[in-house]
Amino acid sequence: MPYNYQDLASTTLPPEIEMPPGLREDANYVFSVTYTDPDAMALKEFAEAAATAIERDGKDLGTYPPPQGHIALREFISSELSAKRGSEISPENIFLTSGAGGACQVFVDSFINPGDVVMMDEFCYHGSLNMFLKKGARPCHVAMDQDGIIPEKLEAAIKENIQNGHRPKLIYTISVYHNPTGATISLERRKKIVEISNKYEIPIVENESYADFHIDGPELPPAMIGLDSEGGVMHISAFTKLMGCGLRLGFGAFPESARESLAKVGFGLAPSHLTSMAVHEYLKDNKSAYVAGVAASLGRKRDAMLRSLGEYFPPTCTWTEPQGGMMIWMKLPEGTNTWDILEKSVEKGVKYNPGPIFRADRSGGNHLRLTFSHHTPEEIEEGIAVLAGVFEGEGVI
Ligand SMILES: Cc1ncc(COP(=O)(O)O)c(C=O)c1O
Repeated sequence: MPYNYQDLASTTLPPEIEMPPGLREDANYVFSVTYTDPDAMALKEFAEAAATAIERDGKDLGTYPPPQGHIALREFISSELSAKRGSEISPENIFLTSGAGGACQVFVDSFINPGDVVMMDEFCYHGSLNMFLKKGARPCHVAMDQDGIIPEKLEAAIKENIQNGHRPKLIYTISVYHNPTGATISLERRKKIVEISNKYEIPIVENESYADFHIDGPELPPAMIGLDSEGGVMHISAFTKLMGCGLRLGFGAFPESARESLAKVGFGLAPSHLTSMAVHEYLKDNKSAYVAGVAASLGRKRDAMLRSLGEYFPPTCTWTEPQGGMMIWMKLPEGTNTWDILEKSVEKGVKYNPGPIFRADRSGGNHLRLTFSHHTPEEIEEGIAVLAGVFEGEGVI
């Protein structure tokens, strides 16, 4: 008699979130993933660093790592946050996680109850959005522009929720090279958002997963965790996009006052200690040079995508010109249904992310996200030509 695992399944599973089926299919041109740029990876040097770390410290793998993870890597993160993100955070206030997603899950598990209102960017990376939705949160999307979330709109929406008896639990924002729009919150806005957080005592969770991906243009403003003095900001970032998504290595940073709540969920699932050792060994000597190589490679890919969009799409379509990160946000004529068209696009060999996956209410059908890290500039040009053909065939352009 076969076991009936359907009958045995837990009845407290989170709800399924509907996603376009095309995203699961294979395609020749994959503009729907934020994978590490394979053309910038330094595998030989990384392998040497891993070997050095294992030969020197391998016996550390015989025991369990500290609950918040590899201490030397946390010290390195602390010094990087100080040097690059203007934020003085003790290694004791950093925890290592299974990717940025792991850190986000820790904050969701620590603070979100079903029904909680969470203030969010107008469009929000679907992985985070789905995490909040699975926990039963009620996202309240706030209008953004090229400088990120608009503070006046944020405050108005917070007031409205409070008046309706729903005091928001958190403000969740992807504050640099935003996924999916590429926007970075300006310094002036950061200060205002922190002020709003302090005024209403609603903590911010800022996700800086793309902080290492400056390609050109002005340097990034400091992280909000460094602009706040009231313990109101928690921070997420990762080494996944930079060094390898498969490494599953990210981190969270937090004010001391949040420690007790985060400790209740054990700071989440710790990443492999071996990965932390190897990444630390490599980055401590090579980070600046490696980051510059990634930026140069991504710059070539971004330019190839922008060039081909200009060549193949008409002026009725607009798109962002990001100065960092790995994605371009497109707006197509009103009434376009990028969710449904994805299936046809996949049949022709091109995958993209339809706008509605970034909204809890599944609006935004005339937007789509294109990522440029995964293919060569030549492949990008070919793929964009195919994509334009798909939208032409649908009568959109
Ligand atoms: C903003 C943001 N946060 C988190 C993640 C998940 O990243 P990780 O692989 O580090 O868990 C992504 C991946 O696309 C992302 O764009």
